[in-house]
Amino acid sequence: MFEKFLSHDVQYLRSSEIRDLLKLTEGKNVISLAGGLPDPSTFPVEDIKRIAEDVISSKPEISLQYTPTPGITEFREQLVKLASLRGITGIDPTNTFATVGSQEALYMTFNLLVDPGDYVAVEKPTYLTALNVLRARRPNYVGVPLTPEGPDLDSFESSLRRLKAEGKRLKLFYVIPTAQNPGGTTMNLNDRKRLIELAEEYDFLIAEDDAYGFLVFEGDSPPPLKALDRSERVIYLGTFSKILSPGLRLGYVIASKEFINELELLKQNLDLHTPSLTQMIAAEAIKRGVIERQIPIIRKTYKEKRDVMLQAIEESFPKDAKWSRPVGGMFVFVWLSEKFDTVKLLEEAMRRGVAYVPGSSFFYDYSGRNTMRLNFSFPSKDELRRGVEILGKLLKEVSA
Ligand SMILES: Cc1ncc(COP(=O)(O)O)c(C=O)c1O
Repeated sequence: MFEKFLSHDVQYLRSSEIRDLLKLTEGKNVISLAGGLPDPSTFPVEDIKRIAEDVISSKPEISLQYTPTPGITEFREQLVKLASLRGITGIDPTNTFATVGSQEALYMTFNLLVDPGDYVAVEKPTYLTALNVLRARRPNYVGVPLTPEGPDLDSFESSLRRLKAEGKRLKLFYVIPTAQNPGGTTMNLNDRKRLIELAEEYDFLIAEDDAYGFLVFEGDSPPPLKALDRSERVIYLGTFSKILSPGLRLGYVIASKEFINELELLKQNLDLHTPSLTQMIAAEAIKRGVIERQIPIIRKTYKEKRDVMLQAIEESFPKDAKWSRPVGGMFVFVWLSEKFDTVKLLEEAMRRGVAYVPGSSFFYDYSGRNTMRLNFSFPSKDELRRGVEILGKLLKEVSA
Protein backbone atom coordinates (compact mmCIF):
# COMPACT_ATOMS: atom_id res chain seq x y z
CA MET A 1 0.00 0.00 0.00
CA PHE A 2 2.88 2.37 0.77
CA GLU A 3 4.74 1.70 -2.42
CA LYS A 4 3.04 4.45 -4.41
CA PHE A 5 4.01 7.00 -1.77
CA LEU A 6 7.69 6.12 -1.60
CA SER A 7 10.37 8.33 -3.10
CA HIS A 8 12.23 7.22 -6.22
CA ASP A 9 15.46 6.63 -4.29
CA VAL A 10 13.92 4.04 -1.97
CA GLN A 11 14.26 1.43 -4.71
CA TYR A 12 18.04 1.55 -4.24
CA LEU A 13 17.92 0.66 -0.55
CA ARG A 14 19.05 -2.86 0.24
CA SER A 15 18.52 -4.67 3.50
CA SER A 16 21.62 -6.04 5.15
CA GLU A 17 21.66 -9.78 4.51
CA ILE A 18 23.39 -10.23 7.84
CA ARG A 19 20.59 -8.57 9.78
CA ASP A 20 18.04 -10.69 7.90
CA LEU A 21 20.04 -13.77 8.72
CA LEU A 22 20.34 -12.92 12.38
CA LYS A 23 16.57 -12.63 12.47
CA LEU A 24 16.26 -16.15 11.09
CA THR A 25 18.56 -17.59 13.74
CA GLU A 26 16.88 -15.74 16.65
CA GLY A 27 15.46 -18.06 19.28
CA LYS A 28 16.60 -21.15 17.34
CA ASN A 29 19.25 -23.61 18.30
CA VAL A 30 21.68 -22.42 15.67
CA ILE A 31 25.34 -21.62 16.28
CA SER A 32 25.78 -18.33 14.49
CA LEU A 33 29.11 -17.80 12.80
CA ALA A 34 27.24 -15.21 10.77
CA GLY A 35 27.11 -12.08 12.91
CA GLY A 36 29.84 -9.64 13.74
CA LEU A 37 29.16 -8.94 17.38
CA PRO A 38 32.00 -8.25 19.80
CA ASP A 39 32.40 -10.65 22.72
CA PRO A 40 30.37 -8.98 25.51
CA SER A 41 32.92 -10.17 28.08
CA THR A 42 35.23 -7.49 26.61
CA PHE A 43 32.91 -4.60 27.56
CA PRO A 44 34.36 -2.64 30.51
CA VAL A 45 30.97 -2.64 32.24
CA GLU A 46 31.99 -1.31 35.64
CA ASP A 47 34.10 1.49 34.13
CA ILE A 48 31.29 2.58 31.83
CA LYS A 49 28.83 2.54 34.75
CA ARG A 50 31.06 4.70 36.89
CA ILE A 51 31.95 7.09 34.07
CA ALA A 52 28.30 7.50 33.01
CA GLU A 53 27.33 8.42 36.56
CA ASP A 54 30.25 10.84 36.88
CA VAL A 55 29.65 12.70 33.62
CA ILE A 56 25.93 13.00 34.30
CA SER A 57 26.38 14.33 37.81
CA SER A 58 29.43 16.53 37.24
CA LYS A 59 28.63 17.94 33.78
CA PRO A 60 24.88 17.64 33.07
CA GLU A 61 25.02 20.96 31.20
CA ILE A 62 27.07 19.15 28.53
CA SER A 63 26.25 15.46 28.75
CA LEU A 64 22.46 15.97 28.78
CA GLN A 65 22.32 19.07 26.59
CA TYR A 66 22.28 19.75 22.83
CA THR A 67 25.90 20.11 21.76
CA PRO A 68 27.74 21.34 18.62
CA THR A 69 27.27 19.34 15.42
CA PRO A 70 30.92 18.29 14.87
CA GLY A 71 31.23 17.02 18.43
CA ILE A 72 31.93 18.13 22.00
CA THR A 73 35.32 19.84 22.34
CA GLU A 74 36.43 17.54 25.16
CA PHE A 75 35.63 14.51 23.00
CA ARG A 76 37.38 15.90 19.95
CA GLU A 77 40.48 16.63 22.02
CA GLN A 78 40.50 13.02 23.21
CA LEU A 79 40.05 11.80 19.62
CA VAL A 80 43.33 13.53 18.75
CA LYS A 81 44.95 11.56 21.57
CA LEU A 82 43.36 8.27 20.49
CA ALA A 83 44.44 8.85 16.88
CA SER A 84 48.02 9.39 18.02
CA LEU A 85 47.97 5.83 19.38
CA ARG A 86 47.42 4.75 15.75
CA GLY A 87 50.31 6.97 14.63
CA ILE A 88 48.12 9.76 13.26
CA THR A 89 49.78 13.05 14.15
CA GLY A 90 49.73 16.65 12.93
CA ILE A 91 45.99 17.02 13.47
CA ASP A 92 43.97 19.10 15.91
CA PRO A 93 40.39 18.76 17.21
CA THR A 94 39.01 20.64 14.19
CA ASN A 95 40.17 17.73 12.01
CA THR A 96 37.84 15.40 13.92
CA PHE A 97 34.11 14.77 13.74
CA ALA A 98 31.82 12.70 15.98
CA THR A 99 29.38 10.33 14.27
CA VAL A 100 26.72 7.82 15.27
CA GLY A 101 28.90 4.77 14.69
CA SER A 102 31.23 4.66 11.72
CA GLN A 103 28.17 3.54 9.76
CA GLU A 104 26.92 7.13 9.80
CA ALA A 105 30.37 8.29 8.75
CA LEU A 106 30.21 5.92 5.78
CA TYR A 107 26.74 7.17 4.89
CA MET A 108 27.77 10.81 5.07
CA THR A 109 31.07 10.31 3.24
CA PHE A 110 29.50 8.47 0.31
CA ASN A 111 26.61 10.93 0.15
CA LEU A 112 28.94 13.90 0.14
CA LEU A 113 31.28 12.50 -2.51
CA VAL A 114 29.52 10.08 -4.84
CA ASP A 115 27.13 11.04 -7.62
CA PRO A 116 25.44 8.42 -9.80
CA GLY A 117 27.91 7.26 -12.44
CA ASP A 118 31.05 8.31 -10.53
CA TYR A 119 33.85 5.76 -10.49
CA VAL A 120 34.42 4.30 -7.03
CA ALA A 121 36.89 1.53 -6.22
CA VAL A 122 36.12 -1.16 -3.67
CA GLU A 123 37.94 -4.28 -2.61
CA LYS A 124 36.53 -7.61 -3.78
CA PRO A 125 35.21 -8.56 -1.24
CA THR A 126 34.48 -5.61 1.05
CA TYR A 127 32.29 -4.62 4.00
CA LEU A 128 28.69 -5.42 3.15
CA THR A 129 27.00 -2.47 4.81
CA ALA A 130 29.35 0.01 3.18
CA LEU A 131 28.45 -1.59 -0.15
CA ASN A 132 24.76 -1.18 0.60
CA VAL A 133 25.25 2.55 1.22
CA LEU A 134 27.29 2.85 -1.97
CA ARG A 135 24.69 0.95 -4.00
CA ALA A 136 22.15 3.63 -3.15
CA ARG A 137 24.54 6.19 -4.71
CA ARG A 138 24.59 4.21 -8.00
CA PRO A 139 28.30 4.54 -8.83
CA ASN A 140 30.34 2.70 -11.43
CA TYR A 141 32.51 0.23 -9.58
CA VAL A 142 36.18 -0.52 -10.01
CA GLY A 143 36.72 -3.88 -8.30
CA VAL A 144 40.12 -4.42 -6.69
CA PRO A 145 40.76 -8.13 -6.12
CA LEU A 146 41.93 -9.08 -2.65
CA THR A 147 45.14 -11.12 -2.40
CA PRO A 148 46.34 -12.63 0.89
CA GLU A 149 48.38 -9.38 1.22
CA GLY A 150 45.41 -7.06 0.75
CA PRO A 151 44.16 -5.27 -2.38
CA ASP A 152 46.05 -6.17 -5.56
CA LEU A 153 47.62 -2.83 -6.38
CA ASP A 154 49.01 -4.00 -9.74
CA SER A 155 45.51 -4.79 -10.88
CA PHE A 156 44.28 -1.52 -9.37
CA GLU A 157 46.96 0.47 -11.18
CA SER A 158 46.00 -1.16 -14.51
CA SER A 159 42.38 -0.16 -13.87
CA LEU A 160 43.48 3.40 -13.14
CA ARG A 161 45.52 3.51 -16.35
CA ARG A 162 42.64 2.10 -18.35
CA LEU A 163 40.19 4.62 -16.91
CA LYS A 164 42.59 7.44 -17.68
CA ALA A 165 43.04 6.23 -21.25
CA GLU A 166 39.26 6.31 -21.62
CA GLY A 167 39.18 9.88 -20.34
CA LYS A 168 37.55 8.82 -17.07
CA ARG A 169 38.62 9.40 -13.52
CA LEU A 170 38.37 7.47 -10.27
CA LYS A 171 36.91 9.63 -7.53
CA LEU A 172 37.21 7.49 -4.43
CA PHE A 173 38.69 4.24 -3.14
CA TYR A 174 36.89 2.76 -0.13
CA VAL A 175 39.43 0.51 1.54
CA ILE A 176 39.88 -1.40 4.81
CA PRO A 177 43.68 -1.74 5.03
CA THR A 178 43.89 -3.44 8.42
CA ALA A 179 42.18 -6.71 9.40
CA GLN A 180 39.88 -6.36 6.41
CA ASN A 181 36.22 -7.30 6.82
CA PRO A 182 35.49 -9.86 5.48
CA GLY A 183 38.80 -10.85 3.80
CA GLY A 184 40.96 -10.89 6.95
CA THR A 185 43.89 -9.28 5.11
CA THR A 186 46.28 -6.56 6.32
CA MET A 187 48.25 -4.41 3.87
CA ASN A 188 51.99 -4.10 4.41
CA LEU A 189 53.68 -0.72 4.81
CA ASN A 190 55.06 -0.61 1.25
CA ASP A 191 51.66 -1.19 -0.27
CA ARG A 192 50.21 1.49 1.97
CA LYS A 193 52.81 3.98 0.73
CA ARG A 194 52.20 2.91 -2.86
CA LEU A 195 48.45 3.41 -2.48
CA ILE A 196 48.97 6.96 -1.22
CA GLU A 197 51.28 7.63 -4.19
CA LEU A 198 48.66 6.28 -6.60
CA ALA A 199 46.04 8.56 -5.02
CA GLU A 200 48.33 11.52 -5.60
CA GLU A 201 49.28 10.51 -9.13
CA TYR A 202 45.71 9.76 -10.26
CA ASP A 203 44.08 12.40 -8.07
CA PHE A 204 41.47 10.45 -6.13
CA LEU A 205 40.37 10.38 -2.49
CA ILE A 206 40.63 7.45 -0.11
CA ALA A 207 37.99 6.55 2.48
CA GLU A 208 39.98 4.49 4.97
CA ASP A 209 37.87 2.31 7.25
CA ASP A 210 40.01 1.46 10.27
CA ALA A 211 37.31 -0.34 12.28
CA TYR A 212 39.80 -3.02 13.38
CA GLY A 213 43.02 -0.99 13.59
CA PHE A 214 43.23 -1.44 17.36
CA LEU A 215 42.37 -5.13 17.10
CA VAL A 216 45.56 -6.48 15.57
CA PHE A 217 46.62 -9.33 17.84
CA GLU A 218 49.59 -10.74 15.95
CA GLY A 219 52.60 -8.62 15.06
CA ASP A 220 52.43 -4.84 14.89
CA SER A 221 49.46 -2.99 13.47
CA PRO A 222 50.88 -1.07 10.49
CA PRO A 223 50.20 2.68 10.52
CA PRO A 224 46.90 3.62 8.92
CA LEU A 225 46.96 5.33 5.52
CA LYS A 226 45.97 8.52 7.32
CA ALA A 227 49.30 8.49 9.18
CA LEU A 228 51.11 8.47 5.81
CA ASP A 229 48.85 11.03 4.15
CA ARG A 230 50.59 14.33 3.43
CA SER A 231 48.06 15.71 0.95
CA GLU A 232 44.82 15.36 2.96
CA ARG A 233 43.45 12.77 0.55
CA VAL A 234 42.54 10.28 3.22
CA ILE A 235 39.22 10.42 5.04
CA TYR A 236 39.74 8.21 8.07
CA LEU A 237 36.79 6.43 9.71
CA GLY A 238 37.12 5.09 13.24
CA THR A 239 34.74 3.50 15.73
CA PHE A 240 34.32 2.78 19.42
CA SER A 241 32.24 -0.30 18.61
CA LYS A 242 35.16 -2.71 18.76
CA ILE A 243 37.18 -1.10 21.57
CA LEU A 244 34.48 0.04 24.01
CA SER A 245 30.89 -0.92 23.14
CA PRO A 246 28.92 -1.03 19.87
CA GLY A 247 25.69 -0.11 21.69
CA LEU A 248 27.06 3.36 22.36
CA ARG A 249 26.87 3.89 18.57
CA LEU A 250 29.89 6.12 18.47
CA GLY A 251 32.29 6.62 15.60
CA TYR A 252 34.45 9.40 14.22
CA VAL A 253 36.05 10.86 11.15
CA ILE A 254 39.51 12.38 10.84
CA ALA A 255 39.92 14.47 7.72
CA SER A 256 40.78 17.86 6.27
CA LYS A 257 38.99 20.84 7.77
CA GLU A 258 37.29 21.39 4.44
CA PHE A 259 35.74 17.94 4.54
CA ILE A 260 34.79 18.30 8.21
CA ASN A 261 32.84 21.45 7.26
CA GLU A 262 30.89 19.48 4.65
CA LEU A 263 30.14 16.75 7.19
CA GLU A 264 28.81 19.41 9.53
CA LEU A 265 26.38 20.74 6.91
CA LEU A 266 25.06 17.27 6.14
CA LYS A 267 24.76 16.19 9.76
CA GLN A 268 22.71 19.29 10.59
CA ASN A 269 20.09 17.83 8.24
CA LEU A 270 20.53 14.30 9.49
CA ASP A 271 20.47 14.25 13.30
CA LEU A 272 21.90 17.61 14.51
CA HIS A 273 24.65 15.96 16.51
CA THR A 274 25.91 12.70 17.93
CA PRO A 275 24.49 11.98 21.42
CA SER A 276 26.27 14.12 23.98
CA LEU A 277 26.22 11.45 26.67
CA THR A 278 28.07 8.84 24.64
CA GLN A 279 30.68 11.37 23.54
CA MET A 280 31.28 12.32 27.16
CA ILE A 281 31.53 8.67 28.21
CA ALA A 282 34.06 7.89 25.47
CA ALA A 283 36.08 11.06 26.17
CA GLU A 284 36.33 10.08 29.81
CA ALA A 285 37.13 6.44 28.94
CA ILE A 286 40.11 7.66 26.89
CA LYS A 287 41.16 10.18 29.56
CA ARG A 288 41.06 7.57 32.35
CA GLY A 289 42.99 5.02 30.29
CA VAL A 290 40.06 2.58 30.14
CA ILE A 291 40.45 2.03 26.41
CA GLU A 292 44.21 1.55 26.56
CA ARG A 293 43.71 -0.99 29.34
CA GLN A 294 40.95 -2.76 27.48
CA ILE A 295 42.66 -3.16 24.11
CA PRO A 296 45.15 -5.87 25.19
CA ILE A 297 42.29 -7.80 26.83
CA ILE A 298 40.23 -7.69 23.64
CA ARG A 299 43.23 -8.70 21.52
CA LYS A 300 43.97 -11.67 23.76
CA THR A 301 40.35 -12.83 23.72
CA TYR A 302 40.10 -12.65 19.93
CA LYS A 303 43.49 -14.22 19.28
CA GLU A 304 42.49 -17.24 21.34
CA LYS A 305 39.18 -17.53 19.55
CA ARG A 306 40.78 -17.11 16.14
CA ASP A 307 43.18 -19.93 16.97
CA VAL A 308 40.30 -22.20 17.98
CA MET A 309 38.48 -21.43 14.74
CA LEU A 310 41.53 -21.90 12.52
CA GLN A 311 42.37 -25.21 14.11
CA ALA A 312 38.80 -26.45 13.75
CA ILE A 313 38.78 -25.43 10.09
CA GLU A 314 42.10 -27.15 9.51
CA GLU A 315 40.69 -30.34 11.02
CA SER A 316 37.33 -30.47 9.32
CA PHE A 317 37.17 -28.46 6.06
CA PRO A 318 37.75 -30.05 2.64
CA LYS A 319 41.41 -30.15 1.63
CA ASP A 320 40.90 -27.94 -1.43
CA ALA A 321 39.40 -25.10 0.62
CA LYS A 322 41.47 -21.98 1.31
CA TRP A 323 40.97 -19.54 4.14
CA SER A 324 42.43 -16.34 5.55
CA ARG A 325 44.66 -16.34 8.62
CA PRO A 326 43.74 -12.93 9.95
CA VAL A 327 46.22 -11.13 12.22
CA GLY A 328 43.34 -9.13 13.68
CA GLY A 329 39.64 -8.40 13.58
CA MET A 330 36.79 -10.84 13.98
CA PHE A 331 36.45 -12.91 10.82
CA VAL A 332 37.88 -15.74 8.78
CA PHE A 333 37.04 -15.73 5.06
CA VAL A 334 36.84 -19.05 3.24
CA TRP A 335 37.25 -19.80 -0.47
CA LEU A 336 35.79 -23.20 -1.38
CA SER A 337 36.24 -24.97 -4.68
CA GLU A 338 34.23 -23.45 -7.54
CA LYS A 339 31.53 -26.14 -7.42
CA PHE A 340 30.13 -24.79 -4.13
CA ASP A 341 27.32 -22.29 -3.93
CA THR A 342 27.30 -21.00 -0.38
CA VAL A 343 23.99 -19.15 -0.86
CA LYS A 344 22.23 -22.40 -1.73
CA LEU A 345 24.04 -24.31 1.00
CA LEU A 346 23.01 -21.99 3.81
CA GLU A 347 19.55 -23.41 4.39
CA GLU A 348 20.91 -26.91 4.95
CA ALA A 349 23.68 -25.56 7.18
CA MET A 350 21.08 -23.79 9.31
CA ARG A 351 18.95 -26.92 9.44
CA ARG A 352 21.99 -28.71 10.86
CA GLY A 353 22.50 -25.94 13.39
CA VAL A 354 25.08 -23.52 12.04
CA ALA A 355 24.86 -20.17 10.21
CA TYR A 356 27.44 -18.22 8.21
CA VAL A 357 27.31 -15.33 5.78
CA PRO A 358 27.52 -16.32 2.11
CA GLY A 359 30.52 -14.44 0.72
CA SER A 360 28.76 -13.10 -2.39
CA SER A 361 27.10 -10.46 -0.20
CA PHE A 362 30.51 -8.82 0.11
CA PHE A 363 31.19 -8.57 -3.63
CA TYR A 364 29.73 -5.54 -5.39
CA ASP A 365 28.89 -7.76 -8.39
CA TYR A 366 27.59 -10.65 -6.22
CA SER A 367 30.39 -12.92 -7.46
CA GLY A 368 32.27 -15.06 -4.93
CA ARG A 369 29.43 -17.62 -4.73
CA ASN A 370 31.97 -20.18 -3.46
CA THR A 371 33.02 -18.08 -0.46
CA MET A 372 31.77 -17.60 3.10
CA ARG A 373 32.54 -15.41 6.10
CA LEU A 374 32.88 -16.91 9.55
CA ASN A 375 32.83 -14.87 12.75
CA PHE A 376 34.98 -15.91 15.71
CA SER A 377 34.52 -12.98 18.12
CA PHE A 378 31.05 -13.75 19.48
CA PRO A 379 30.54 -17.54 19.74
CA SER A 380 32.07 -19.37 22.69
CA LYS A 381 35.12 -21.53 21.98
CA ASP A 382 32.97 -24.61 22.27
CA GLU A 383 30.45 -23.20 19.79
CA LEU A 384 33.29 -22.30 17.43
CA ARG A 385 34.54 -25.90 17.50
CA ARG A 386 31.08 -27.43 17.09
CA GLY A 387 29.91 -24.92 14.47
CA VAL A 388 32.97 -25.39 12.27
CA GLU A 389 32.78 -29.15 12.65
CA ILE A 390 29.12 -29.26 11.52
CA LEU A 391 29.97 -27.03 8.58
CA GLY A 392 33.06 -29.04 7.63
CA LYS A 393 31.06 -32.26 7.65
CA LEU A 394 28.41 -30.74 5.40
CA LEU A 395 31.02 -29.36 2.97
CA LYS A 396 32.73 -32.73 2.72
CA GLU A 397 29.42 -34.48 2.09
CA VAL A 398 28.57 -32.05 -0.69
CA SER A 399 31.99 -32.33 -2.32
CA ALA A 400 32.04 -36.14 -2.11
C1 LIG B 1 34.69 -2.64 8.34
C2 LIG B 1 33.59 -2.05 9.17
N1 LIG B 1 33.32 -0.76 9.04
C3 LIG B 1 32.35 -0.19 9.75
C4 LIG B 1 31.59 -0.91 10.65
C5 LIG B 1 30.46 -0.20 11.37
O1 LIG B 1 30.70 -0.08 12.70
P1 LIG B 1 29.92 0.89 13.65
O2 LIG B 1 28.84 1.58 12.88
O3 LIG B 1 29.40 0.06 14.76
O4 LIG B 1 30.95 1.89 14.10
C6 LIG B 1 31.84 -2.26 10.83
C7 LIG B 1 31.03 -3.07 11.76
O5 LIG B 1 31.07 -4.25 11.82
C8 LIG B 1 32.88 -2.86 10.06
O6 LIG B 1 33.16 -4.16 10.15
